[in-house]
Amino acid sequence: MNKFVGYRCSLCGEEYAPAEVTYTCPKDGGNLDVVLDYEAIKSKYKPEDILSRSDPSLWRFLPLLPVSEPEGSATPLHVAGATPVYKLTRLAEKLSLQNVWLKDESRNPTASFKDRASAIVVARAREIDAEVVVTASTGNAGAALAGMSAAVGQKAIIFAPKSAPPAKVAQLLVFGAKVILVDGTYDDAFDLTVKAADEFGWYCRNTGYNPFTAEGKKTAALEIWEWWEDTHEKWHEQIGTDVEHAPLTVFVSVGDGNIISGIHKGFKDLYELGWLSRIPRMIGVQAEGSAAISNAFHADTETITPVSATTIADSISVDLPRDGVRAVRAAKETGGTYVNVSDQEILNAIAELGTVGVFAEPAGATAYAGLVKAASTGLVGPDDPILVMNTGSGLKDVRAAMQAVQPAPVIEPTLEAVKRLL
Ligand SMILES: Cc1ncc(COP(=O)(O)O)c(C=O)c1O
Ligand SMILES: [Zn+2]
Repeated sequence: MNKFVGYRCSLCGEEYAPAEVTYTCPKDGGNLDVVLDYEAIKSKYKPEDILSRSDPSLWRFLPLLPVSEPEGSATPLHVAGATPVYKLTRLAEKLSLQNVWLKDESRNPTASFKDRASAIVVARAREIDAEVVVTASTGNAGAALAGMSAAVGQKAIIFAPKSAPPAKVAQLLVFGAKVILVDGTYDDAFDLTVKAADEFGWYCRNTGYNPFTAEGKKTAALEIWEWWEDTHEKWHEQIGTDVEHAPLTVFVSVGDGNIISGIHKGFKDLYELGWLSRIPRMIGVQAEGSAAISNAFHADTETITPVSATTIADSISVDLPRDGVRAVRAAKETGGTYVNVSDQEILNAIAELGTVGVFAEPAGATAYAGLVKAASTGLVGPDDPILVMNTGSGLKDVRAAMQAVQPAPVIEPTLEAVKRLL
């Protein structure tokens, strides 16, 4: 079944066949949405076919993905997806909320959400026989590409700002990618990568540029759907089967805007297939110092004006978001909004999540910081069901983590010293 029929430009609506374009719309540079043949998918599959597959990886969603089943019975790509969801009962109580869950994307193979995108892009790269895959990255997308590439023996080149946290750079190097640190911002690295890919014929994975990244990221929406179908049913058994409630609200941290757009695309695919009756409300959370998408949302425009980004959350520090228009729409079309948080609020969120055993990097904790703000301003109601995405592990940026906590005391190795301390 050929379910991948082409692309549609998110700005001008022009449609392209799969072989006609590779990255963005040739007319206006708009992000391309992957177009699937929903009728063909519907005629061949039912939700049960996907939900009942025993494969825990994102490959169980192949019927909805624009790549073909990898050769053989087992894919050599490492398992991305199938991340756990925890109920945050104690933290919810503090916020006077009742139904807060967290989906922990730090549990992906290279410890961030980006594995979902890189798994699909690497599958695509194999399909089109790309010799080299290249990406610009603040660290996570690169680590994901490097890790997934290493798993299958694909050559990868990563351009990262030289300010990237050392743990992320270490991951890139250990996975054996060619790592090039750019004396500039992520945006500089992005532009350089596009030029280098053109010049040398490399396949470019850049976020908000390669249409397949959003298709990988949408697998989180498919998992949320899978989880919520089940959780919602059990929840209704407790609150009464006929009780009306707000839709599920999903909090996502936003830099380039590709994660929120990808998750939105997943929900839209399910809705088009008639497999999801109510699309969750999406709330994007940006750092105050890197809020170009939030600014556009609140100015009610799709014109994204670049900022000069500064935030401790390096993964979402972006001057010109590359998937801004679709990210604005993700909140707008789902009845959601954008919330901005300060670096101090992000650090507080790291510490709070730590108290329930979740270790998030700054960009990962940003979504929870957004929930704290939304709860205090009444953007979410006490009974609303809420899912917060933690998009990256705290181990990625230990320097930032240490700023969120008090330093540990150093003592002499004597019992006296312990007593004095206690
Ligand atoms: C941990 C983490 N959270 C959030 C984001 C934001 O994703 P996007 O840039 O697609 O908005 C990123 C992107 O690098 C990330 O690494
Ligand atoms: Zn266009």
